[in-house]
Amino acid sequence: MADRQTMFTGAAEVYDRFVGRYSPALAAAMCDAARVQPGQRAVDVGCGSGALVAELAARLGAENVAGVDPSEPFVAASRARVPGARVVVGSAESLPFADNEFDATLSQLVVNFLSDPQLGLREMARVTRGDGVVAGCVWDYGGEMTMLRTFWDAATALDPDGAAPLVEAHTMRFSTPDELETLWRTALEDVQVSAIVVEASYDGFDDLWAPFPTGVGPAGAYTASLDDVAQAALRDEYARRLGRADGPFRLSARAWCAVGSVPG
Ligand SMILES: C[S@@+](CC[C@H](N)C(=O)[O-])C[C@H]1O[C@@H](n2cnc3c(N)ncnc32)[C@H](O)[C@@H]1O
Repeated sequence: MADRQTMFTGAAEVYDRFVGRYSPALAAAMCDAARVQPGQRAVDVGCGSGALVAELAARLGAENVAGVDPSEPFVAASRARVPGARVVVGSAESLPFADNEFDATLSQLVVNFLSDPQLGLREMARVTRGDGVVAGCVWDYGGEMTMLRTFWDAATALDPDGAAPLVEAHTMRFSTPDELETLWRTALEDVQVSAIVVEASYDGFDDLWAPFPTGVGPAGAYTASLDDVAQAALRDEYARRLGRADGPFRLSARAWCAVGSVPG
């Protein structure tokens, strides 16, 4: 199964049909939470396919926005999505930016994937000016991130031994408000954690299911590790638990968002 650094290296289009479907709405809420305002410079750490880079560019102008991600396909997708933004390959733990370069540093659905999250946070604080803002969010994997929580409920019901150790509510750090706040307090002041709830639309269950067998993300990596019979059983159980027959539907997803100030 893919490790955490490589499981998002596939095509950006697949990611955008998977969890990335929620990213534009989440990006808008993140910018509001971080109090992003015209005149600022901002960076998106772990930018993925560029949803938050695009939202920042709409608010600040692309020339005032940077992005960074270790995945070259994602960096290419972000550059194509937001020409004029400065998007580079790199990691949160060693940001390729100068001290105090930004007024706001945002990181959406990323800190739980970092090999050294405390170092990543220190780096985000380093590149942000004193009294600037660092904001980040993580899905409420064990609660109201409906798409992923229901997937793992179905997987563990069918395959307790194989799926239970992989359930993201247990494997992902910082997916509770307290844990996220504790991480933020290691590098930032005046920390506040709040809930962000967003929705995504699906044409039908197949629209939701299609990315999973490609191996994208931890849930996709688990699906791709199954044979055809087990995949079909998982698909049916997932659809049954969501209660979705054919036809369009929407799912809601909650993330916890931490916002803090860089010590001045
Ligand atoms: C769930 S995706 C989120 C992407 C994007 N921020 C969004 O909201 O759609 C996680 C992202 O973290 C990136 N990532 C993984 N390890 C990283 C690291 N050490 N530093 C920065 N980003 C990292 C992945 O390449 C991927 O783009």
